[in-house]
Amino acid sequence: MEDKEKIKSQISKLEEKYKDSGQDLSSYLDGLLHQRYLTYWDYIHLDTLLSLQVPRTHFPDEEIFIMYHQITELYFKLILHEQKQLVDDKSNSLEFFIEKVRRVNSYYKVLISSFSVMIKGMEREQFLQYRMALLPASGFQSAQFRMIELYATPLENLVHVSERAQFSSESTIEELYEHIYWKKGATDVATGEKTLTLKQFEYRYTPRLIRIAKQVENATIYHKYLSLPKEQREDNTLVDSLKTLDVNANINWQLMHMGSAHRYLRKETGDIEATGGTNWKEYLPPSFQKIVFFPELYTEQELNNWGKQWVDHMLNPDKSKIE
Ligand code: HEM
Repeated sequence: MEDKEKIKSQISKLEEKYKDSGQDLSSYLDGLLHQRYLTYWDYIHLDTLLSLQVPRTHFPDEEIFIMYHQITELYFKLILHEQKQLVDDKSNSLEFFIEKVRRVNSYYKVLISSFSVMIKGMEREQFLQYRMALLPASGFQSAQFRMIELYATPLENLVHVSERAQFSSESTIEELYEHIYWKKGATDVATGEKTLTLKQFEYRYTPRLIRIAKQVENATIYHKYLSLPKEQREDNTLVDSLKTLDVNANINWQLMHMGSAHRYLRKETGDIEATGGTNWKEYLPPSFQKIVFFPELYTEQELNNWGKQWVDHMLNPDKSKIE
């Protein structure tokens, strides 16, 4: 009897709900009657997901290469999912801030620790062959990687280190964007010619990246931090988690990634050309890029030594900084 009462009350609530939006409950109940039961595979679109690994060569390890990039892009999406909530948050709650950054860090932890899948997981001989079939595509063209940077910090912090001092928050978004560090990395210094990898990326993503940069102008995660009251800005948990994010995103991930570039592209007699056309040994090291999302949190000396091994140690001497 109790069950029947419950169902009655549920039906009258449903009636109310549909009446309020001018709908007829009876038609919806018919729909419910005919609807298939939901399955796991339909819910997560499993068949679609597993159909997206499409190698361009016959080398078996190429599938690993595709899948690990896809897995990484999904983690980038998870990171952006947290960043966007933080940027949109109007509550200015310290707990919320810390929790969002903690989640971002836990995703980076997975990405950093799992990079050995790339470093050790493929045969170098296979890599060098199938990689040539993928020219001029490169992880350099990961738009989500660039979006994570835009949500984290103002554009002036992403200007190439050699020109950073010439720009400020007074510069226009377009100006800053033109001098962003990764454009310089993929431009021939002598001729000023951009690599094809960069040209294609710009053509596809510039409008979207500019739109995001404008949307978060004065509202990046760094701005959010700087606008907190003093005692919250000095909260140890928040400061530690932001420093950890900086080190994860701008040093530790980079170092693991470079590990794979070294394993696959290094040769006894000169290096193999990077497929995206950058001078990767000069472009990739974090100590050369010196990208820092939250510069206020560091001393002059720490910034000068950015990307060198000891920064990690300084942040947390007892354990690895990838939490
Ligand atoms: C065998 C594995 C890998 C090798 C050898 C490798 C190599 C490289 C090289 C040489 C570059 C410099 C740009 C270029 O000239 O192409 C680069 C950039 C990049 N790759 Fe990879 N990569 C590998 C795996 C990955 C994976 C799994 C991802 C995940 C999405 C990724 C994402 C990126 C990103 C985001 C950049 C730009 C980095 C920056 O601007 O600082 N790479 N990669």
